[in-house]
Amino acid sequence: MTVTSPAQTPAFPSKLPQVGTTIFSVMSALAQQHQAVNLGQGFPDFGCDTALIDAVTAAMQAGHNQYPPMPGMPQLREAVAAKIEALHGRQYDANAEITITAGATQAILTAILATVHAGDEVIVLDPCYDSYAPNIALAGGVIVRVPLTPISFRPDFAKIAAAIRPKTRLLIINSPHNPSATIWTADDMRQLEALLAPTNVLLISDEVYEHMVFDGAQHESAARFPGLAARAFIVSSFGKTYHVTGWKVGTVAAPAALTAEFRKVHQFNVFTVNTPMQVGLATYMQNPAPYLELSAFYQRKRDLFAQGLAQTRLKLLPTTGTYFQCVDISGVTTLSESDFCQWLVREVGVAAIPLSAFYGDGFDQKVVRFCFAKQDATLLAALERLRKL
Ligand SMILES: Cc1ncc(COP(=O)(O)O)c(C=O)c1O
Repeated sequence: MTVTSPAQTPAFPSKLPQVGTTIFSVMSALAQQHQAVNLGQGFPDFGCDTALIDAVTAAMQAGHNQYPPMPGMPQLREAVAAKIEALHGRQYDANAEITITAGATQAILTAILATVHAGDEVIVLDPCYDSYAPNIALAGGVIVRVPLTPISFRPDFAKIAAAIRPKTRLLIINSPHNPSATIWTADDMRQLEALLAPTNVLLISDEVYEHMVFDGAQHESAARFPGLAARAFIVSSFGKTYHVTGWKVGTVAAPAALTAEFRKVHQFNVFTVNTPMQVGLATYMQNPAPYLELSAFYQRKRDLFAQGLAQTRLKLLPTTGTYFQCVDISGVTTLSESDFCQWLVREVGVAAIPLSAFYGDGFDQKVVRFCFAKQDATLLAALERLRKL
């Protein structure tokens, strides 16, 4: 029998009714349309080390093409544990405490799904990475937004303390910080450690920019602070460290009890992550130089870009980590951040991202973010255009 009536998709309530087209897609589309220099999205426009491509290619040719163990290839977990011990002095058991994920994005979602029950409160510090809030919503959690101090982006520990209530399950921090390009000091981490000590609050420490800290500063991983490490999922991303954002491979280091719950979700969430990348990354990690030299690599780009921006009326905010440069636009325009970015891409031909996009309430402090993970020629082309500001 042939059914002739037109089939209709049944109506159903959205799980994420607030989520629409992000400013990142809007700006990228505008950048393409206006042939603008795209300093909006945070990814490199240059290639990775060919030795890394060779290591992955060799892994495929050697037959590493079937499912790896659920938590990740042992040699990669061991390399990650060895790196954390060498850099931060904390021993993680590669078998029970390190998991390989499909990028930091999956690591964060999985950690939230594994710990947040319906109605639990999760504190995020605004401005924050845009996946946190929808992830919390998907877990049925309640998002509690605590602002960082405007312009300086310093954590306000009194405000964080005031937001901790009996239902608080989790706090998410991020240093080096996207979008503000600031870092937390050892003193900040110690203050957080003291604040959380009498609580049962768990921590996600998003450290994807761990190898991009400038002017001789050191990355203060949660791994360095026993009271934080004991309650933390420490998240990182090979995509950021090795210029391969499209590979989507990340890591989570967490105490065994947290890792056990994490893996219960992970095994039904992705089960595991592609094998040849893991084998290749493990080989490549034997040489620490690429990640140890990354700060110097990006500091030079930061300085090149900042010197050019200093010729404009944009006011530079300090970049102490990440590959972002924030600027105060109040000397140049009365437009909102968002309208300024739309004007900039159309009329000047450079794409940037308004910081308001990283706030739950769209707070506008007249600051926009550029990404300098670009070839020098791209940065110079953008500066040439920005000179007229
Ligand atoms: C703060 C922050 N966390 C997580 C991620 C996601 O990393 P991945 O590409 O490894 O999923 C990003 C990427 O931009 C980020 O900026």
